Order: sequence, then C-alpha cells, then structure tokens
Amino acid sequence: MRLITFTTVSLLLAASAAGNAAFQQRCSNLSSSFSAANTDIILADYVAKGTNITFPEPGNNCPKFTISLADMCRLRLNVTTSSTSSVIVEVFMPENWGSKGKRFLMTGNGGLGGCIQYNDMTYGTLLGFAVVGHDNGHAGDNGLPFLNKPQVVKDFAWRALYKAGKIGKKAINHFYPSSIRKSYYMGCSTGGRQGMKAAQEFPEEYDGIVAAAPSLDWNGVMAAPGHIFKAVGLPGSPTHLNLDQWNKVHQMVIRQCDGIDGVLDNVLEDPMKCEPRPEELLCGPGQTWASDQCLTSAQVAAVRKVYSPIYGNGGRLVHPRLNPLTREFFGYRASYGGVPSYIAEGWYRYAVFNDSNWSLHANFSLDAVDYDYQKDLFGIGTNKTDLTDAKNKGTRILMYHGLTDGLVTSENSYRYYEDVSRDMGLPSSQLDEFYRFFPISGLDHCYTGDGAWFVGGSVQYSPAGALDIDPSDSVLMTMVKWVEQGIAPETLMGRKLIGGTVQGARAHCKHPLKTTYKGVGDPNLPSSWDCGAA
Ligand SMILES: *[C@@H]1O[C@H](CO)[C@@H](O)[C@H](O)[C@H]1NC(C)=O
Ligand SMILES: *[C@@H]1O[C@H](CO)[C@@H](O)[C@H](O)[C@H]1NC(C)=O
Ligand SMILES: *[C@@H]1O[C@H](CO)[C@@H](O)[C@H](O)[C@H]1NC(C)=O
Ligand SMILES: *[C@@H]1O[C@H](CO)[C@@H](O)[C@H](O)[C@H]1NC(C)=O
Ligand SMILES: *[C@@H]1O[C@H](CO)[C@@H](O)[C@H](O)[C@H]1NC(C)=O
Ligand SMILES: *[C@@H]1O[C@H](CO)[C@@H](O)[C@H](O)[C@H]1NC(C)=O
Ligand SMILES: *[C@@H]1O[C@H](CO)[C@@H](O)[C@H](O)[C@H]1NC(C)=O
Repeated sequence: MRLITFTTVSLLLAASAAGNAAFQQRCSNLSSSFSAANTDIILADYVAKGTNITFPEPGNNCPKFTISLADMCRLRLNVTTSSTSSVIVEVFMPENWGSKGKRFLMTGNGGLGGCIQYNDMTYGTLLGFAVVGHDNGHAGDNGLPFLNKPQVVKDFAWRALYKAGKIGKKAINHFYPSSIRKSYYMGCSTGGRQGMKAAQEFPEEYDGIVAAAPSLDWNGVMAAPGHIFKAVGLPGSPTHLNLDQWNKVHQMVIRQCDGIDGVLDNVLEDPMKCEPRPEELLCGPGQTWASDQCLTSAQVAAVRKVYSPIYGNGGRLVHPRLNPLTREFFGYRASYGGVPSYIAEGWYRYAVFNDSNWSLHANFSLDAVDYDYQKDLFGIGTNKTDLTDAKNKGTRILMYHGLTDGLVTSENSYRYYEDVSRDMGLPSSQLDEFYRFFPISGLDHCYTGDGAWFVGGSVQYSPAGALDIDPSDSVLMTMVKWVEQGIAPETLMGRKLIGGTVQGARAHCKHPLKTTYKGVGDPNLPSSWDCGAA
C-alpha cells in the first residue's frame, strides 16, 4: 500500500514535470511559431509563480516590477498601428488555463496612461484567465507623447485597446490546444472608459465588460479639474483652502449628511441626497481660521463652486458636481488642492492644443472646453448612449463607481446610465438584462476608502490583505457567473479592507435601488442592510 502510494505520487510528479517541460517549450517556441501582421515579438518566456518580473524601461513613471501569481507563459509584443504609432502588448497565459474555463481577460489603463496594469494581469492569471495588457500606445502616465502625434492620441482613444485585444486573442488561440470560450474586460478610470468604449463600439469582442469609475464624457471629465483649479486658485489666493481647511469641510459634510442613510459611520450611502451648506463654516466679524477654525466668504464661495455642476458657454451643463465627500487621497491631490491636474493639463496642452506652453493656470477657460468638445479627438468623449449593439450581441456590462471619488465624480456615471435609459427607451427593469450599475459607498477613485470599498476589481489588488480575500464573489467572478451561468447580480459584495484586515462587509445594491439600513443590527454586517426603493 505504501509502495503503491509512493509510486503513484512519483508518477504524478513525473507527469506534471513532463507537462511543465512541454508547456515551457511551447512557450519559448512562440517566438518562431507565432506571427501576426505588423507585430514584432519582443520576448516569449516561461515564468514560474513567484518570479519577480521587472520592467526596466527608463524614463516613464510606470510600475517597475510585478510578482507572478501563476506558472505561465509571457509573450511581449510590439504592434505597429500606423507609421507614427505602436502599442506594446503583454500576454500572460497560465498553465492551468484549460481546466479554469478557457477564459480571456482584457485589461485597461489609467490617467493619461501609458502604463500596463500588471497587477490586474497577475490577478487574472491567479484565477486562470489568459490576460492581455497594453501600454495604450505610449509609455508612461504622461501626455507628452501626444504632442504633434495624432496617431498616438488615436491609440489612446480606442485603437490600442481594439488592436491589443485582437492580437492577444490570436496569440492565446494559437498557444493553447483549444480556443477561448468566453472573453471579459476589466478596467477602472481611463480603463473604465475603455471598457465603455468597447461596449459602445465593439461589444462583439467581449461577453462581459466590468467598467469601474469610467471617465465617460472625457471632455467634461477634463473640464472639471480645470474649473475646480480656477475656483480654488493657487495656494495663497483668497479662494484657496489648505488641507486642514478641507478636512474641516469634510467633517462638516459628514455632520450635515451622514445621518441621511440612518447610520453614523462616515459613509454616505446616497451622496446625491447631500446638499452641503458651507456657510455653516463662515467666520463672524473679527473671527479667523487661526483662532476660530472658520472660513472667509471667498473660501465658502469656492467650496460652493466645487460642489456645484459646471455650466459652459450658453448655459450648457458640462459636468456634474464633485462628490460632496471625497477622501484626501485623490480629491485633494487631483482636484481641489491648488495644483493643476497633470491629467487635464497634459490632455489640453499636448493632445488638444498641441502647444507645450499651454497651461491650466494661464489658458483654461470655457472656450477651451468648447474647443475640446468640438474636436472630440477620435471619439475620446465615449458618450454614445445607444448600446443596442451590446444588447443584441448579448454582451453584459457591469459598471460600478465609488461614491467618494474625488477625481471622476460618481454623478457622471448616474447621468450616463439615465442618458442610456432615455436614449434606448428602456426602463431599468429592461436595461438589467445586459447593463447594470452599482454605486459603491465609501470607495475612493478605483481603490481604498472608508467603507466596504473592496469589490475585487481593477487596481484593487495592491493594498495589503487584498489577495487574502476569497475571489469567488469578486466583481470579476460575479461577471463570470452572469455570463456563464446566467446568474445576474442584484448586489455587489464589498469588503471594508483597512490596514490589511477586513473590518466589515456590505452588499452594495444595484441602481436605482438603494442600500438601506434595516434599522437594527451591526452596520458592518451585510445582513443589517437590504435593497430598498429610493
Ligand atoms: C518546439 O520547436 C521545436 C523546433 O522547432 C520542435 O522540435 C518542438 O516539437 C517544439 N515543441 C513544442 C512543445 O511545440
Ligand atoms: C523586484 O525587483 C525589483 C528590481 O530589481 C526590485 O526593486 C523589487 O524590490 C523586487 N521586488 C520584490 C518583491 O522582490
Ligand atoms: C515598436 O515598433 C516601432 C515601429 O513600428 C518602433 O518605432 C518602436 O521603437 C518599437 N518599440 C519597441 C519598444 O521596440
Ligand atoms: C503641432 O505644432 C507644431 C509646431 O507648432 C506644428 O508644426 C504641427 O503641425 C502641429 N501638429 C498638429 C497635429 O497640429
Ligand atoms: C513657448 O515659450 C518659450 C519660452 O517662453 C518660447 O521660446 C517658445 O517659442 C514658446 N513656444 C510656443 C510654441 O509658443
Ligand atoms: C496662454 O496664455 C498665455 C499667457 O496669457 C498667452 O500668451 C497664450 O497665447 C495663451 N495660449 C492660448 C493657446 O490661448
Ligand atoms: C458626443 O459628443 C460629440 C462631440 O462633442 C457630440 O457631437 C455628440 O452629439 C455627442 N453624442 C451624444 C450621444 O451625446
């Protein structure tokens, strides 16, 4: 008995070593066996789980390494998209793919990137997906490569995603003995916009699209930081608030609005119902910030502007207001800290005006906003509200957005959802068939937050403890269940991951239902909440 067991184990080990050797061989063979038009193979390497993969390219601000989470084959390609543009594509193909559902996962980018989302890629391989990432047509989270290079802007707007997906699928279907069964997309911010671009323009490429905090209506998303920067001014100007003063404003918002959802926990379940009144902080005669922690009239007016929608020339609504409560992490840094947003400035300066001297400080105006909208370079606006193609092709779209997003206001996602509903003439009960939107309370821009922010989505796998959370109810596997088993999500499970440990959970309800406290029970338990009408 003992001998048989020993032999069986040895045989299994030998078989798996042989399988592994063949896999490795097939992988390195890719450099000669795989070819595609306009595509150079940079490398084809077997990478064991635990390997530190480094990206030594100098001169860009992208991540410099990632740790492999699976035994896999790594293919790196250079795809030429025009005579003046090219896209770097990475394909991570895990060895266990055949037994894990034969799934394809496409990942996106962020900001003005430029950076391959390696952590999303390795997370995908951990779940057995073959994953593709790409640099969106230029290296680095930086607008300089757009200068006088319209073809690079075109890659950024949609073409890099489209081409990288096509080539990636081709490589995966070539590499494995069987073909891809189901295709998914997952991305946040610019990556969310890319997912919605695919939903609008080439939904046939995906069975399921997970789009987080999408920068939909890109031109309006760019206008917002310019408008807010002008409203608060540079440090030292009468309208400027320092970080302590913004924290005071945030405490005020919590005081005025935290109770609306019935639980005092620093988390607003429905910030749309919150209309802050900053005059509460106004200094009386003779009072000052130093002695009384109050704000001047000019500062209060600036806070009102930040929390108001942006109207353009002719009174047109350009962009909804910033979320009334944001966290310091992105909000202060990216929006109202008195520092020009490198994303908005880089976009206008290099892509729109093609003028290295253009600055938000000297040149931002409602005319500049109009000019950007008129150009709408290569359809960057991503504002198409007719999703009939996606509906007819059976593509499922899951959008989610953090309700303390200080960079892309979550109100932009509500607005888009309602625009789609009206444009298609479909009430939510019918949109539900293929398009669902989940507002996530206590989630900042894409990751971190004070609430149950962790949903297992794009760029959420860097913080400590994230990889310890069971991925079976992550947003990606939730999408897989919807596509492959027809189980459509009514809620999205969020975990309150703080300081590396899970301190609570909440099942976030699907819009237009509201995540509603039952009135009794520990608010950190999902069972204390249900989905109610608005
Ligand atoms: C790899 O290529 C070599 C030579 O081209 C060939 O002999 C071998 O069978 C290939 N191996 C696999 C696993 O495809
Ligand atoms: C991976 O390698 C890079 C470059 O050598 C190094 O900076 C980084 O610390 C390494 N990461 C880990 C987790 O070992
Ligand atoms: C990719 O190919 C283009 C030519 O289409 C070339 O200009 C570029 O330098 C290549 N990039 C890399 C990283 O090899
Ligand atoms: C960008 O500006 C440069 C120099 O001003 C000019 O030569 C070039 O034609 C412009 N390119 C585009 C695409 O407008
Ligand atoms: C930008 O400013 C520099 C210095 O102020 C000037 O020399 C240059 O001509 C300007 N370039 C453009 C395109 O206006
Ligand atoms: C930007 O502002 C500067 C300084 O006021 C001005 O000289 C320049 O012409 C402006 N550029 C544009 C494109 O309006
Ligand atoms: C999208 O934006 C473009 C450019 O601003 C505009 O022409 C078009 O009407 C917009 N489409 C929708 C559906 O709003």
